[in-house]
Amino acid sequence: MSVDLRLHGMPAPRPRLSWRTTEPFDAYRVELTLAGRPPVVHTAEGAEQLGVRWPFAPLDSRAAGALRVSVGSRGRWGDWSRPLAFETPLFGAGEWSARFVSPRTLGGVLTAAPLLSRTVKLPAAVTRARLHVTALGLHVTRINGERVTDEELAPGWTSYGRRLRYRTHDVTALLRPGENEVTALLGNGWYRGRLYWRGQRALYGDRLALLAQLEIECADGSTHLVVTDESWRAHTTGVLADDLYDGQTTDLRIGRGAGEPVDVLDEPLDQLFPGDSPPVRPVAAVPGGMRYAAPSGELLVDFRENLVGWVRLRVRGRAGQEVVVRHAEVLEDGELGIRPLRSAQATDRYVLAGGRTEVLEPSLTFHGFRYAGLRGVAPEEIESVEAVVLSSDLRPTGHFRCSDPDVQKLHDNVVRSMRGNFLDVPTDCPQRDERLGWTGDIQVFAPAAAFLADCSSFLSSWLRDLAAEQFEDGCVPFVVPNIHHNILPAAAAWGDAATIVPWTLYERYGDAEVLREQYPSMRAWVERLHAFAGEDGLWAGRFQFGDWLDPAAPPDAPGDSRTDKDLVATAHYIRSTDLLARTAAVLGLSEDARRYRDLAAEVRRAFASAYVTERGLMVSDTPTAYAMALHWDLLPTPEQREAAGTRLADLVRANGFRVATGFVGTPLITDALTEAGYPHLAFRLLLERSCPSWLYPVTMGATTIWERWDSMLPDGSINPGQMTSFNHYALGAVADWLHRRVAGLAPAAPGYRRIEVRPLPGHGLTWAEADLETPYGTAGVAWRISGGTLVLEARVPPGTEAIVHLPGREPFRTGPGHHQWKAELPPPASPEVIADAVDDARLWERLTRVMTAHGVIGDPAALAARGLRLPLSELASVVTPRATPEQVARLQSALDEQLRP
Ligand code: BGC
Repeated sequence: MSVDLRLHGMPAPRPRLSWRTTEPFDAYRVELTLAGRPPVVHTAEGAEQLGVRWPFAPLDSRAAGALRVSVGSRGRWGDWSRPLAFETPLFGAGEWSARFVSPRTLGGVLTAAPLLSRTVKLPAAVTRARLHVTALGLHVTRINGERVTDEELAPGWTSYGRRLRYRTHDVTALLRPGENEVTALLGNGWYRGRLYWRGQRALYGDRLALLAQLEIECADGSTHLVVTDESWRAHTTGVLADDLYDGQTTDLRIGRGAGEPVDVLDEPLDQLFPGDSPPVRPVAAVPGGMRYAAPSGELLVDFRENLVGWVRLRVRGRAGQEVVVRHAEVLEDGELGIRPLRSAQATDRYVLAGGRTEVLEPSLTFHGFRYAGLRGVAPEEIESVEAVVLSSDLRPTGHFRCSDPDVQKLHDNVVRSMRGNFLDVPTDCPQRDERLGWTGDIQVFAPAAAFLADCSSFLSSWLRDLAAEQFEDGCVPFVVPNIHHNILPAAAAWGDAATIVPWTLYERYGDAEVLREQYPSMRAWVERLHAFAGEDGLWAGRFQFGDWLDPAAPPDAPGDSRTDKDLVATAHYIRSTDLLARTAAVLGLSEDARRYRDLAAEVRRAFASAYVTERGLMVSDTPTAYAMALHWDLLPTPEQREAAGTRLADLVRANGFRVATGFVGTPLITDALTEAGYPHLAFRLLLERSCPSWLYPVTMGATTIWERWDSMLPDGSINPGQMTSFNHYALGAVADWLHRRVAGLAPAAPGYRRIEVRPLPGHGLTWAEADLETPYGTAGVAWRISGGTLVLEARVPPGTEAIVHLPGREPFRTGPGHHQWKAELPPPASPEVIADAVDDARLWERLTRVMTAHGVIGDPAALAARGLRLPLSELASVVTPRATPEQVARLQSALDEQLRP
């Protein structure tokens, strides 16, 4: 029985354990061996295997050891897993002898980046050395000139002041007997650079500082402790300016200046926590593609994909030559389209030392771009140009492929937007003067993200920041880390990140720890909403973002959605209360579970009486309103649900299958249509290519998901709104539906302990497949249609089961293994009423051509929507209400021609 062990929540005194096995088991044992001590074994009955709580005494700081696990069945133990080695860093402020140090006079705001240094003499070869390090600002730390890590933009962005991450690096190989030097270049980063568009900087403090503790053991038995204290020196450098938004200026002629003393700061250490999520690293290098001169003379480089990181240039030039690298996501009139960057300069500058090949790349900034514009360098002086792609280094876990190349591109674009915006914080966008952890954006995108990569520790860490910054009254900041300190914010769909993101992580990874940890935060949010709600039980009459970026909203009023904002608010209040009740049940808090179930029922009644007519229509007659009501079960009776489904379908048809939802409705509408019995209409939406639609940006050459449905207008100009990004994952939330329903791989129990295999074959696709590294092992679903037969394959990991839905059969269960089934697909029904023709993409296209040729003016789908339930023989009269009987007859006979089987 092979067992594969993992640790979660490391580094921590009490990490959690998960393991995968190939066989069922009813007991397990865990063996812990700490260096220099005999092994201890913990044995337990049971078949738990995800997020198993630490069964030993808490680990100390600097503990090193190994763990093994073995599982047993009916009294027989299987083999031990391979030992998993681990090491702990420093737990608690008391473990630090180092203090934050800051240059005394150098490195002030808007001056050159300072370098801190210190030397250490070692008597013998080094057998073990660990560096614990962080900074107020960014740090690039080296020992004897070598980087101590490939992490970039360390220590990342957390709720500084409350939570500051440090990391521990094994630097044994970098030290040698004799003289050694430790240096750290400090940059402004999020701590002291610009943040937000109001020109704010130095939001967290105005002094950059380093905290470093180097613990060394030598072969002669001696130990050495090097810590940041008054013995360090500060130097000027050639990094003359650095800012995340504006870029970096480096004069390569300038070396390190003479040292000056540092000040030891009185900065508290209890905010420190050990690195608990994957670091930002270079995750790819993209060669610069086509180069050409813009009309202005700037040399443009096309990297062929919109990415996040920086440009690395190798050039050979003259001493004193100034090279400027600008960045943009799109071109407009053949030049870099920089208006969407707003005030962000996104410009790196270099002054060459000359006389040799020089590598030009920044280290204290990042940009979001597809194009780079180079000035001050001739093509023949460039040896190479590439883009270094930065991202939090998450483990990819899920893949999706399908027969439609544009849908595939859409999905690839989602993956790329996730990569670019998962940069330590889940951000809205990576390029303009914003790049913030907007709660609403990740709330809608988390399910897609949790499939594509293992984001458990990345998002759990961010949720700790959310909880740390939640206001006393339960309000959740609009952005985390919070930089709008003086607003008491509560907005539906944004604040609900507090409940929805933890629940999503639990659903996808099966580890209840995230619920345990976040419970007070989740509860505080729901209690805040409860307190907001009036006598009538509704959350109404307050500020809301609403269905942000409804395509009908004017470019400069993105919040002007068609859906009533108060309706959106109370729907989210119910959604959060439901999830809190379920969370309380998972955690065994039965009283809370009851209280919040009752509260949700009460608010549902209030919602229905305020916003749903007896016959099932919503007071906001919009796709977003119906999508929430259907998908979140907000409609009291089956008749109302039926009617709401019908109405949603008609709205979608009447809009010619173009998207009519913003941030709130977009992640829900395809599910709502599918569940209401209109999966074919969800596909019509998905496959629509005119603007606005998911595929419209693909037809315009997009390589990432755009913020707006029309960030670029059909004529190639940039949307005139001042808020226009080409790299925003929120509208890519549809990828979750692609995974769960189009391919058909959905979680039916936490951690995919049960999988729902429920694809939607056909509807314009001939095959689709998804695979996912679940906590239990690899799961996969693949289907293809050949000659009217569906072939469905599923891979079910050990220890799990699947519920399979096949056309023409009742759902059935199946166990682990690789399975294949075949089913005959029902032949397509022949169209009878107008709606049937509208729904059939190919037929409708033919009919549309005929209608247009006969002079029908306007969108035929919108015209046909007046008579969707009428027989097809009346189509001509429905779409030409003012025509003469002869004209109608002529059109109808041309249409009948197309309708003949
Ligand atoms: C951001 C959004 C965010 C929104 C909230 C924008 O500036 O880019 O993605 O959720 O503001 O209103």
